[in-house]
Parts: sequence; C-alpha cells; structure tokens
Amino acid sequence: MATRAYFPTLVYTAALQKRGSAAFNARLLRECLQLRADDAAGRRWSARNYPGGYTSYGSQHRLHQISPTFEALRRLLLPHVAKFARCLDWDLRGRALAMTDCWVNIMPHGVAHSAHLHPLATVSGTYYVQVPSGAPGIKFEDPRLERFMAAPPRRSACRRRNRQWVTLPAIPGNVVLFESWLRHEVSANTRRPQRVSVSFNFNYF
Ligand code: NI
Repeated sequence: MATRAYFPTLVYTAALQKRGSAAFNARLLRECLQLRADDAAGRRWSARNYPGGYTSYGSQHRLHQISPTFEALRRLLLPHVAKFARCLDWDLRGRALAMTDCWVNIMPHGVAHSAHLHPLATVSGTYYVQVPSGAPGIKFEDPRLERFMAAPPRRSACRRRNRQWVTLPAIPGNVVLFESWLRHEVSANTRRPQRVSVSFNFNYF
C-alpha cells in the first residue's frame, strides 16, 4: 500500500545574499520611498488600485532598466531563479528566464493586497526590503481549489502538504519565488512602520 503526493506546487524561499543585506536594503528602501515621492502617476494609479498603499506596478514597472540598485537586485536574483528552474526540472533549451518587470510595493498600516496572479509571466516573486515584526507574510492558495466541489473540510491540524492555504513569513533580505499562475495575497498590515517589498516577473524567451 502506498499513498504518495503527486503534482506538488513548488515555492522557493532563500536569503538573497549571504552578507550585506542590511546595507542593500537601506539603499533599496531609500529608492522606494524616493520613487513614491517622485511618481505622481504611480500615486494616482495606486489611489485607484491599491487603496492606502503605493505600488509602481502601474507606472514604473521596469525599475531594473532605470536604477542601478534594482539592476543589482536583478543580478542577485538570477542564481535563485536558475535554482528554482532546476527544482521544477524545467528544460530551458538554451533560452533565458529574463526579468521583464520589477516594481515597488509600500503597504502602510491597514493596507492589504487582495488575491491575484501575475499574468503574462513564467516565474514571479518578491524580495522583502522592510517588514516590521508581526506584519503579514505572503499567502498562497491551492491552485486546485475550484475543483474541490465535494471535498470535506480539512482538519485544523492538517499537515502542511494538505493545506489549501499556506502563509510564508515575509523576512527582510529574503526572496520568495513561485510560478506566476499561483494565486497569492497579503492580508492587511497591522504593524508600523510600513511594509516594503519589491516584486518582479521573469519570462521565458
Ligand atoms: Ni503578486
């Protein structure tokens, strides 16, 4: 008799770099806050689409092409994306997984980011710049959820592999990678100061 897990959903987490993350995050944080101050179009877009918070998703979403700091982040992410691709057994056939988008998210107290996917991308992820202790992590949803029409509810002490939602902590200096079709959200930030992260997409060219 054997009961095995098939078709797993892989999520990758790691420290972005072995050392230097405090200085790097201080630099990133300065740029994120400066960008919010300078980016009037982004603040208008955020007022409509990200109430109470600021994201450059609708205005400045290729920050790696205009800022050496975000370009440094892109370069630091490359080995992690390559490792994730190996975990997935992807055969890239000589083609590149290249960063297409990179944007800032600032979540002050009370701001939430509702469930979403990252369309038109292959691998997505987030790098955490500033996360106050107790601020929410990233919550992933079982991608088969809409097929569980007659499934009984899960026990509250359900094993991790059988859970329908999993929340991973947001840790400054850490990166989380996932396949772009995996739905995720961030619940309301109940802490101060604001939670600051950089999200990105990689695509298969
Ligand atoms: Ni997202």
